[in-house]
Amino acid sequence: MDASNFAVVLAAGKGTRMHSPRPKVLHTILGDTMLHLVVHACRPVFQNRILIVIGHEGDQVRMAMPDGRFVEQPQQLGTGHALQCALPALTASNAQWATVINGDAPLLDTGTLESFLGAATGADVAFATITLDNPGAYGRVVRQNGEVSAVVEAKDFQDSRHGAPTGEVNAGLYLFNISAIAPLVHQITNTNASGEYYITDLIALALQSGLVVRGIPCGSDTSLLGVNSPGELAMAEDILAQRQATCLLQRGVILHSPQMLRISPLAHIEPGAEISGPTEISGHSRIASGVRIGSHCVILHSSLDAGAEVRPFCHLEHAHVGPGALVGPYARLRPQAMLAAGAHVGNFVELKNATLGPGAKANHLTYLGDAYVGARSNIGAGTITCNYDGSRKHHTHIGEEAFIGSNTALVAPITVGDHALVGAGSTLTKDVADNELAIARARQKNLPRRKL
Ligand code: UD1
Ligand code: CA
Repeated sequence: MDASNFAVVLAAGKGTRMHSPRPKVLHTILGDTMLHLVVHACRPVFQNRILIVIGHEGDQVRMAMPDGRFVEQPQQLGTGHALQCALPALTASNAQWATVINGDAPLLDTGTLESFLGAATGADVAFATITLDNPGAYGRVVRQNGEVSAVVEAKDFQDSRHGAPTGEVNAGLYLFNISAIAPLVHQITNTNASGEYYITDLIALALQSGLVVRGIPCGSDTSLLGVNSPGELAMAEDILAQRQATCLLQRGVILHSPQMLRISPLAHIEPGAEISGPTEISGHSRIASGVRIGSHCVILHSSLDAGAEVRPFCHLEHAHVGPGALVGPYARLRPQAMLAAGAHVGNFVELKNATLGPGAKANHLTYLGDAYVGARSNIGAGTITCNYDGSRKHHTHIGEEAFIGSNTALVAPITVGDHALVGAGSTLTKDVADNELAIARARQKNLPRRKL
């Protein structure tokens, strides 16, 4: 791809029709925001040459995309004005071409983008079109003798002036030769039904200036559908879920109840993994070949190594599950939960910023927070690391092959050595050295019972 071609993702709009306080592009589909999905589709073509135009609740959008390159549109005066705001940053980056993409097109895929750019070669201005049975609020493509003459927004379209609608609409994906359109961007006016500066006015302006303009039909391709309302968001999510399941099956991933799976395109699933629906996998998750994931799991930004098994009803977020490790059913792995090879985490166990060494086990009813557990140690049922003193968090270190009896409270900071044994029901406040036995509970007294 031409390194002078930059993507400009328009993401400054409010999204009034979503009726939501959240900026439209931060609404999620299959667990990832629309903006992440659009940027993900752009990444293979543009690498880091992706500028995101932000405005409405721009700080929220910035926070959601910590690696993003942003351009501010201080007031949302329309898509034409959004492009105008991006021009200085494009010029400063020595960009010669701008591929402009609506941030509310979450179904976009890299293949569609590449074939559009291929077909656009040679034009000064090109835009993708789709044909819909019901063109709704999309901008209508007007052609004369087969050649594009304008794009007219739905609110401004009049059969008497523009001819009978054909169903061909503007998909919101454009290629612009920057030096050719720069003078025209300033000629866009807001004298239209919405009082906005439309990017689509550039089509007619470019034609008037004698530039080469091409409307590129992309059939009825769903990958270019825009999302403006909750109904369209739900529809887009269904389409994407189905597309993902089909694609994974074709690549050799084993899916049970595929129609109930919600797997984001951001997640990388290797052939030979086995996943049961309903389950959600999103963010930059990585699922290796031979992993088995049961039903009713939610997996976000987590990596699972070969042979790991996650049984039903588990919740993983920013966690790592090593090779052959076993999780659940009913386990919760919070950020920085790390399971080494062959570790086991069982039902009603929660880990946060905690590592289980190779072969270590915490099988029942346990909380391990800010903790390290050495290889092959066993954590008994009901063990709790008391990591928070009301103001600060403290660390618990447990050595190798230690045995922590059931219902133990480990008051951090604390260290339990290798091969140490802790009696059930202990509340430990002092370190236990290697090979020591610690019991910290009231001694049992058995007395004769009073006569009844
Ligand atoms: C736009 C097109 C329409 C096309 C449709 C395809 C215009 C004028 N119309 O209409 O021809 O058929 O997309 O989906 O462009 N945005 C900004 N700044 C603004 C306004 C919008 O960044 O001031 C962003 C929005 O966040 C959104 C994108 O631009 O991601 C498109 O805006 P939207 O208002 O959704 O345009 P549509 O009415 O859908
Ligand atoms: Ca839209």
